[in-house]
Amino acid sequence: MTGKMGYLAQRTKKRLRNVTARFLDDGFGGVARRLAYHLGWLREIHQRDAQFDKTLGVDTKGPVGLWHLKIRSDNLQDAIRYEGVSPAIFRQAMANLAENFSDFTFIDLGCGKGRALLLAKEFGFSQIVGVEFASELAAVAQKNCAQVGVQATVLSQDAMQFSFPPGNLVVYLYNPFGSTVLNPVLDHLLESATAKCYVVYVNPVHRRQCFDSRPQLQYAAGDSEYAIWTAQPLDNHANSMTAAPTRYARDRTEVAPAPQPEHAERAGPSTIN
Ligand SMILES: C[S@@+](CC[C@H](N)C(=O)[O-])C[C@H]1O[C@@H](n2cnc3c(N)ncnc32)[C@H](O)[C@@H]1O
Repeated sequence: MTGKMGYLAQRTKKRLRNVTARFLDDGFGGVARRLAYHLGWLREIHQRDAQFDKTLGVDTKGPVGLWHLKIRSDNLQDAIRYEGVSPAIFRQAMANLAENFSDFTFIDLGCGKGRALLLAKEFGFSQIVGVEFASELAAVAQKNCAQVGVQATVLSQDAMQFSFPPGNLVVYLYNPFGSTVLNPVLDHLLESATAKCYVVYVNPVHRRQCFDSRPQLQYAAGDSEYAIWTAQPLDNHANSMTAAPTRYARDRTEVAPAPQPEHAERAGPSTIN
């Protein structure tokens, strides 16, 4: 099964497998405790989202399931639903990077409604780029950026199709997809890295599977909430690409900027694989 039905079937199967495993391990009590935990967590993120959105006059609330959105991609089954990052975790992760970001491009792969793009503004990046394959979410991200005056380029495209620009990069991911997409995206990044490059991975569930065995990635910092690596450019790329023009996409739709107003944000608890 492919497409949306495949995505729904896979999510339902995973939920049922988790509930059955919990029931077999801990009985009804275990299932009830898990449910109570989940509801508490949902309440918490609703409050956090509402506060963030109210302060900035934006819409970054989640979670938003992907099954009803317009997504034309074979990678839907590997995707994680939209949830905005915890501002506190984002700032904590970024604070590890002792850099002046004025000549860095920030790239959020799977930017959703753009909360991380809004937060990235606090760090003085020269360019901010969001990549999101759900066009409705990309449009909301664009609108949110316009609302708070964040000059960001939001691309409505699959992260697998994204062409990394030359120059210094901070590539940020908040557990947007599984290893089927993550591995080729990292291959592509490491092939194209031309200068300083950091990878910031919040809720790093695929860390062991996709990051830890790559010699080009050096672990720099982290805890259970996030992990940061520096990516070493391949020598044969370092000299040849410095003069390349900025290009972001092999196959993209740039979301039309929303009109400026008159006056002028884990995808689930961590389990590391
Ligand atoms: C957990 S949310 C992260 C939101 C945002 N980065 C933040 O920090 O607030 C994951 C997002 O990745 C997007 N996504 C999943 N697979 C994708 C893919 N292959 N290409 C582009 N976006 C993808 C989902 O639509 C969702 O919006």
